[in-house]
Amino acid sequence: MLTKQKLYEGKAKILYTTEDPEILLADYKDDATAFNAQKRGKIVGKGQMNCQIAAHLLRLLGDRGIANHLIDCPSLNQMRVKKVKIFPLEVVVRNIAAGSLSLQTGLAVGTVLPQPLVEFYYKNDDLGDPLLTCDRLLLLNLATLEQVEQLKNLALQINQILSDFFNNCAITLVDFKLEFGLDQNQKILLADEISPDTCRLWNQNETDPQQKIMDKDRFRQDLGQVETAYQQVLERIMNQLGVK
Ligand code: C5P
Repeated sequence: MLTKQKLYEGKAKILYTTEDPEILLADYKDDATAFNAQKRGKIVGKGQMNCQIAAHLLRLLGDRGIANHLIDCPSLNQMRVKKVKIFPLEVVVRNIAAGSLSLQTGLAVGTVLPQPLVEFYYKNDDLGDPLLTCDRLLLLNLATLEQVEQLKNLALQINQILSDFFNNCAITLVDFKLEFGLDQNQKILLADEISPDTCRLWNQNETDPQQKIMDKDRFRQDLGQVETAYQQVLERIMNQLGVK
């Protein structure tokens, strides 16, 4: 674990190589961006909180049979992960209308969807991560039709596990974004993070539409108390899992 060469710096994480070519080290940062990095800031302690939240959730999913890239966490804001070739796709699952779905369709924020909606976006900052149709995704060779079906099935399974888990934490999982990759055996692994940066989480103990927000929308909308909200998510997850 001594060789530490920066492989890639993203908006929220830095990826380093390690002495094992199949293992990478992810350093979670406090930096926060929104609206395709047009809004920038820092959320104090976010790196540590998101790393721990993501580790708990990935471990939970692993225990339920969802293969993912997590190996372990050598420190509070660092995660050792299996190296994968990431699909240039953001797989978004929605249970309740919010964000871009409401903006683009007119569905009122808070509308419960009759069934979970799975969407694929092209992970491409220059193009602003556009929503893809299945035909466009195939046209661009971003995945095969079989892989699209597998990704959709995995996304729905993950949604079921996480929705139930968050419900037990008195949190509603409104929507979230997933990323997947292929390991050296071409097996699909869930990758990246699952955290308040990548999910919409609403506190079931609050009724006020702004007070109940426990995720990055607090930063996007300048609602304040971002750190407190992330900390509460971490605490509720740890309580539910019975970990200290
Ligand atoms: O903005 P939109 O409503 O499409 O986002 C849907 C979900 O995906 C939200 O939980 C948001 O935090 C997440 N997302 C993300 N990274 C992106 C785009 C969306 O984590 N680049």
